Amino acid sequence: HRRLRVALLGAGAVGSQVAALLLKHADELADRAGASLELVGIAVRDLDAPRETDLPRELFTTDAESLIVGADIVIELMGGIEPAKTYLLQAINSGADAVTANKALLATHGPEIFDAADQVGAQVYYEAAAAGAIPIIRPLRDSLAGDRVRRIMGIVNGTTNYILDRMDTEGADFADVLAQAQALGYAESDPTADVEGYDAAQKAAILASLAFHTTVPLDAVHREGITSIDKATIDSARHAGYVIKLLAVCERLDAEPGVDGQESISVRVYPALIHRNHPLASVHGANNAVFVEAEAAGNLMFYGAGAGGVQTASAVLGDVVSAARRHIAGGVGVAESTRANLPIVPIGHVTTRY
Ligand code: HSE
Repeated sequence: HRRLRVALLGAGAVGSQVAALLLKHADELADRAGASLELVGIAVRDLDAPRETDLPRELFTTDAESLIVGADIVIELMGGIEPAKTYLLQAINSGADAVTANKALLATHGPEIFDAADQVGAQVYYEAAAAGAIPIIRPLRDSLAGDRVRRIMGIVNGTTNYILDRMDTEGADFADVLAQAQALGYAESDPTADVEGYDAAQKAAILASLAFHTTVPLDAVHREGITSIDKATIDSARHAGYVIKLLAVCERLDAEPGVDGQESISVRVYPALIHRNHPLASVHGANNAVFVEAEAAGNLMFYGAGAGGVQTASAVLGDVVSAARRHIAGGVGVAESTRANLPIVPIGHVTTRY
């Protein structure tokens, strides 16, 4: 196998899991990527901070810039705007492909970063930037590229869904459940981003930009959080047959008939009433779901873990494999790989219940 040098920036909840999985599944990932993915280092702010996985100490460094030089793939999982932005641009400009989960950065400086990548023929992969483990970036960008998306309704923040769900089903107290969501690694380092809807708004801007093939600036997203939702509000919603969810709604608004005008879009995040029979009402815990209404495809629902270190690491590693395949294909296409030697077991008369 050819060797690709992979640099990791950040070793928080997601980063430490990405590193651990890269090391643990090195052989299998090499088969799939068509190149061995050599983790050359992990840049962190504090060498002595506690980590969630046991990683070789010699991989850690505080010198991100040296790590980026010479890397083929740079994974940015530091979060925040700076220095993440400087490092990501540095990686792109030095010829690396970039993988990031940084929704704040993409929602605010996406065009600048994508332009920089275009100029040097690099790719930026960001499947983990919205809805954690759920594949939603590629479906919107690629699978649905031939369709017209009319509307997206998403539960795209795991922390607030966890809080609202526990308040609804157990009568739990807001502050208590928020503390649990933090302990479970769902919340952002500053949980204000979750409970005030900033995190969901960033994801809404990213999803709407892809769905409608445009650039939705973050400040065009209407945003309300869940801090004003109390038990009484949740109870009265329940009695009326509804559940309260923090929703990201992205929709196409048709030009008014008979009026000269363009089609427009609306992107908003707010606590909404969802009827208990709606599929989004049964999204519990820190799960996310994205309900996509497309003209030809009809309704599609993407569901799964929206937060959590190891879950989100899955999406990051998928991007790393994609980046590696593109790299070894000379930056032009996607090299597929299959393992041909796995035995296939014939099973008939299946009685298993799911
Ligand atoms: N804090 C985020 C959430 C993490 O709760 O959804 C995933 O982006």
